[in-house]
Amino acid sequence: MSAYWIGIDIGTGGSRALLVDEKGGIRAAHTAAHDDMLMERPLWAEQHPDNWWDACRQAIGGVLAAGGVTGAQIKGVSLSGQMHGLVILDESGAVIRPSLIWCDQRSQQQVDAINAKVGKAKVLDCIANPVLTGFTLPKLLWVRDNEPANCDRVRHLLLPKDYIRYKLTGELASEVSDASGTALFDVVNRKWSHELASALGIDTAILPTVVESQEQTGVISQAAAEATGLAKGTPVFGGGGDQAASAVGNGIVEPGIVSDTIGTSGVVFAHMDNVAYDPAGRVHTFCHAVKNKWHVMGVTQGAGLSLQWFRNQLAAGATYEDLTAEAAHSPAGARGVFWLPYLMGERTPHLDSSCRAAFIGLTAAHTRADMSRAVLEGVCYSQKDCLDIVESLGCAVQSVRLSGGGAKSAFWKQRFADIFNKQVVILETQEGSAYGAALLAMVGTGAFASVPEACKATVREVETVRPSNDAAFYQKSHGIFQSLYPALRETFRAIEGLS
Ligand code: XUL
Repeated sequence: MSAYWIGIDIGTGGSRALLVDEKGGIRAAHTAAHDDMLMERPLWAEQHPDNWWDACRQAIGGVLAAGGVTGAQIKGVSLSGQMHGLVILDESGAVIRPSLIWCDQRSQQQVDAINAKVGKAKVLDCIANPVLTGFTLPKLLWVRDNEPANCDRVRHLLLPKDYIRYKLTGELASEVSDASGTALFDVVNRKWSHELASALGIDTAILPTVVESQEQTGVISQAAAEATGLAKGTPVFGGGGDQAASAVGNGIVEPGIVSDTIGTSGVVFAHMDNVAYDPAGRVHTFCHAVKNKWHVMGVTQGAGLSLQWFRNQLAAGATYEDLTAEAAHSPAGARGVFWLPYLMGERTPHLDSSCRAAFIGLTAAHTRADMSRAVLEGVCYSQKDCLDIVESLGCAVQSVRLSGGGAKSAFWKQRFADIFNKQVVILETQEGSAYGAALLAMVGTGAFASVPEACKATVREVETVRPSNDAAFYQKSHGIFQSLYPALRETFRAIEGLS
């Protein structure tokens, strides 16, 4: 009977389960969509954890069926997931309220209060990062400040994928890479920051146990076996936040190679053997899913989201392929149209929860093709901002391994190569996070000796896209893009007061 492993990614749009064989080959995949984000107000974003669980159950059942395997053949399971979301449980383990997810920006007041109380320098000292509105801690404080009845019931705090772990195993556990994004984790020493928690009056008893990404956190329970088709007793391993897991799937487990993953967000990611951080906090320094290693990443909040929003709101009926094909009819620079992709505020480089998206430069002569091209280019410029900071921290960038939505379109791939002015490399496996989770489960069960060994055996480059003649043009236009946010910053603040 052949042996298999399952990696599960709890994304924003859906949950995906991937079935992997003894050599790390992908045998089957199944995705189940999530409900749309609840956006009660601009820049608020919630999802219900039980919707993730329903999707996960479907994804696991679906992947077992698609692969024609039984639960008994699965040697290990691991998890990856959208980071930073606040999942709060009561005494009985029930979800208290929908999760405030990674892109929710409502907690600026709480961030300001943390900085005032603890001091920015002390925060950096405790967690190696500034506290940002997207992170979990200020979301918890928002609940404390605004929903005291809910706050009184909080007994456990979990991250999105760790809620799925709880449903699968009954264990309240996380792992170092995802815990890093809570703003309550001492990233340098790989443990909860009791110092910061106690300065803010947070009871550390609500925090889960934290393991390294390849370590085991319980086994599939009887109830989960009945719900999913997995066998009771199957081991479940730590896994990673979606970016760290994706980096494992993309082989970013040693210095020199950088990845760029375009999902709803866009993330430039580099491995670090030794921990270093940007004093301005524009990129995040988090624990890697590789034991005792770290990583740095720059985040564009609305990367794939920009194209999705554009299609849904302004190009009803068009597919992503239609839009990228249309964009090719507009020249480099989109005839002077720029897109600022700040649909959910922005992290890197602005750290500004109030900034907004915008088309700049439109005239009556412009067409939807120009706007489509501007959206694709705007995401690349924003990711170039991230790449520049990662490079400035001393991370060598020979080439960029591109994955996710951006890697699916030949047209968009070329724009990344041009705007980065770097070689963009495409891997054979485009599965990123779910694949990284599966590799972590394989390392956990001893099928590979270490994460780097697993990557060496499985990750293969299949395509290289070199910068074209447009690269020089884009270096100049990136400068114009960079001048737009400072010019609009105060206007964004004023707009915020209107909504
Ligand atoms: C990383 C981040 C995103 C989300 C959603 O900091 O916020 O990667 O995890 O994908």
